Amino acid sequence: MKLWDGRFSKSTDPMVDDFHSSIRFDSRMYKQDIQGSMAHAKMLGECGIIPVQDAVLIYKTLQEILADIENGKVTFEIGAEDIHMNIEKILIERIGDVGKRLHTGRSRNDQVALDIRMLLKEEATEIQSQLKKLIQGLIGMAEKNLDTIMPGYTHLQRAQPITFAHHLMAYVQMFLRDVDRLKDCYRRMNVMPLGSGALAGTTYPLDRAFVAKELGFDGITDNSLDGVSDRDFVLELASALSILMMHLSRFCEEIILWSAHEFSFIELDDAFSTGSSIMPQKKNPDVAELVRGKTGRVYGNLMALLTVMKGLPLAYNKDMQEDKEAIFDSVDTVKMCLPVFTQMVLTMKVRNDKMLNAAKGGFTNATDIADYLVKKGVPFRDSHGIIGKMVAYCIKNNKNIDELSLQELKEFSGRFEEDVYAAIALETCVNGRRLPGGPAADSVKASIQRAREQLME
Ligand code: ARG
Repeated sequence: MKLWDGRFSKSTDPMVDDFHSSIRFDSRMYKQDIQGSMAHAKMLGECGIIPVQDAVLIYKTLQEILADIENGKVTFEIGAEDIHMNIEKILIERIGDVGKRLHTGRSRNDQVALDIRMLLKEEATEIQSQLKKLIQGLIGMAEKNLDTIMPGYTHLQRAQPITFAHHLMAYVQMFLRDVDRLKDCYRRMNVMPLGSGALAGTTYPLDRAFVAKELGFDGITDNSLDGVSDRDFVLELASALSILMMHLSRFCEEIILWSAHEFSFIELDDAFSTGSSIMPQKKNPDVAELVRGKTGRVYGNLMALLTVMKGLPLAYNKDMQEDKEAIFDSVDTVKMCLPVFTQMVLTMKVRNDKMLNAAKGGFTNATDIADYLVKKGVPFRDSHGIIGKMVAYCIKNNKNIDELSLQELKEFSGRFEEDVYAAIALETCVNGRRLPGGPAADSVKASIQRAREQLME
């Protein structure tokens, strides 16, 4: 017995029931489905489309069903296909003919579009608050490391000295953009599709704005075909989450490198690392590796969703049922990664000494000594050449630039004076870069301030 079997002379093959049923994964939208139905019923009553006392009974019974689901008293049936029909079926079992009035002026096509929007709005909000906790943590860590000098890299080769705070604040910028992207895609999710019907709207005088207001939407969809067949908001979320995972994954890659003995810039907390079943000495950055690995599935979901949508004629097609597992998996993956990643980063031990040592080697102050000569009147291109030779000399003699005597320096240019040593001290290199956005402690402090303000918005 199906809610739609009027025209059928046979029941569906059990294999088909199993094949097209989505209840295994869309039961997750039970709350949204019920809230949507409650608003729809209330509106039907207010507009005189069904008797008010029927609307009241439907509303009340849906509330009871919601409570029963939450108390584990309800089991869904594969045969009832999806969450929408499961709930309608339970409603009809409980209140008979009155329950049969609920679906007036509605289709599962606009119903499912509504439910996903409602669910993803909640998920996008939750992910934003997880992100904000991460950002706050990183800002706090940056504040403690304003003077922690480390090498900055290009091509993974030591380039110029920066601070650990500056490095952390680079990730803060990325995560702030992620929050912004989520906000932006929330804005387009926040439009109410009921009233689109199956595809062509409905002849009932529904009050769409009433339902939108009741459910906390900003407005209503403007075209019934688009209302049921648009999944841009799913794609946008999948894409925002892919970018977010890419950021986490880049950070993880650095944490993995930094925790390798060869770097030893950080030490992961024991509670956030794992051992080897055979090698007793091992302490592995598995959490970071797994976040990096899970990035792949989130990208995969985005690709799956784009591919599902690419050939669909308007309006609804059953293919679109495939949207749910993909986007739910992306949401769940991100929600699982963010808190554990946050704790892993906040509990890791920063080895200032190792960072400083690494910055001292690798000639990270070579640009600054070149700039020193420029300030003494040497054209930059010439100065670049002079310091290049100096670096080659240092490599040959196994010395850092600041270990050369003034006499040795003068071999390269007569313009070197005693003040060169102060000019190329790592602290001078870092704190001289005080433009907005630079690594100098004051610049980073200002950046922290701006990030905090952005978080408040
Ligand atoms: N379970 C379906 C989905 O997720 C609901 C809409 C079904 N509509 C239909 N006409 N078959 O997309």
